[in-house]
Amino acid sequence: MLAQLSCTVLSRKELLDHIFKLTLSSSHISRKAKPGNFVHLKVNSDAPLLRRPFSIHSVDRARNRFEILLKVVGKGSAVLSQKSPGETLDLLGPIGNSFSLPPRGREVILVAGGMGIAPLWFLLTRLAGRFSPEDMTVFMGAKSKTELLYADKLKGTQAKLIVATDDGSAGRKGLITEVFLKEIKKRGRDLKKLAVCSCGPHKMLKSMSEIAKSLDLWCQISLETHMACGVGACWGCVVKGNDGTYKRVCVDGPVFDAREVVLE
Ligand code: FES
Repeated sequence: MLAQLSCTVLSRKELLDHIFKLTLSSSHISRKAKPGNFVHLKVNSDAPLLRRPFSIHSVDRARNRFEILLKVVGKGSAVLSQKSPGETLDLLGPIGNSFSLPPRGREVILVAGGMGIAPLWFLLTRLAGRFSPEDMTVFMGAKSKTELLYADKLKGTQAKLIVATDDGSAGRKGLITEVFLKEIKKRGRDLKKLAVCSCGPHKMLKSMSEIAKSLDLWCQISLETHMACGVGACWGCVVKGNDGTYKRVCVDGPVFDAREVVLE
C-alpha cells in the first residue's frame, strides 16, 4: 500500500494565519487512504532526507486528489507552505494505521484540538452515511477565535458542535477536554454507548487518554509526533504502551486505543 510518488500541487489556500490547505494530485492516495493515514512529504530536493508528516485531510477519488492541512511551525513546513500550483512534491504514503469505524449503535464523539481537525474531518465524512447527525457530536477546541478552524464548515454537517477556546473568545471558555468531560458526565447515559475519536496537541491527547482510562471509554487517539524516517526504521517516534513495550507512532499508529498508551 505504501508507495513513493510524485504528486502535483493543484491549489494552495491560506485558511488562517500560518495555516494552509494544499490540494495534491494522486490517484493512489485518493483510492487507498483511510482516515488516520498520513503522507510523508519531502521538503525539497536539496535535502533528500528531510520530510514532514501530514494527516490526510480529505480525498476525492473521482478527481484523483487529496488534501492536507499544514501549519507553519518551522523551516520545513514554511518551505512546503510556499509551494505553488504546478509544482511537484515527492511523497511516501499512505502510511500508518487508521481509525476503526465505531460500532453501529454508538453515539460518536469527535474531539479535535486545533490542527487535530485534519484527520477527524476525513473520518467525519466516512461516518456520515453510517451514523445519523443526531448521533454525532464534534468538540472543537482552539487557543482563541483567531485559531479556530472549520467551525462554520462543521455547522454544515448537522452534527452537534461544541466549541471551546482557552481565552473564551469563541464558544465556551476553557480546555476542550474539560468541556468534553463535563458534557459526557452531564448526560448521565451509559458511557459504554459512546465511541470517541480524538486528535490534537500532545497535552490534550494525554488528558484524553487519562479520561478514557478513568471512565473506561471506547476512545481512539491519533498521535502527532516528530518523525524522521516515517516508515518504521529509526524508532525515533516511539510511545510507551501500558504493557511496557514501545510502539512506533508512524507504523504501529498513529491511531491508538487511548487506554493502552502512556503519554508523558
Ligand atoms: Fe522512524 Fe517512526 S519515524 S520509526
